[in-house]
Amino acid sequence: MNLDKIVCYCMSVTNGMIKEAVDAGASTLEEVQAATGAGTVCGSCVDDVKRLIDQFVSERNQK
Ligand code: FES
Repeated sequence: MNLDKIVCYCMSVTNGMIKEAVDAGASTLEEVQAATGAGTVCGSCVDDVKRLIDQFVSERNQK
């Protein structure tokens, strides 16, 4: 995965910023939104953000 790729254009949030928020303890869409602002403006990226959260949470849980 390209961690520099932007997932949320409204807030200029990258894949890597979602990963950082998850690694810092966020597990839900709401927590990641609070940490990064991703998905809080137009909402069109929310499905993609959720998919990333699911992936990063399962990666985190495997450590
Ligand atoms: S692209 Fe993420 S809120 Fe608009």
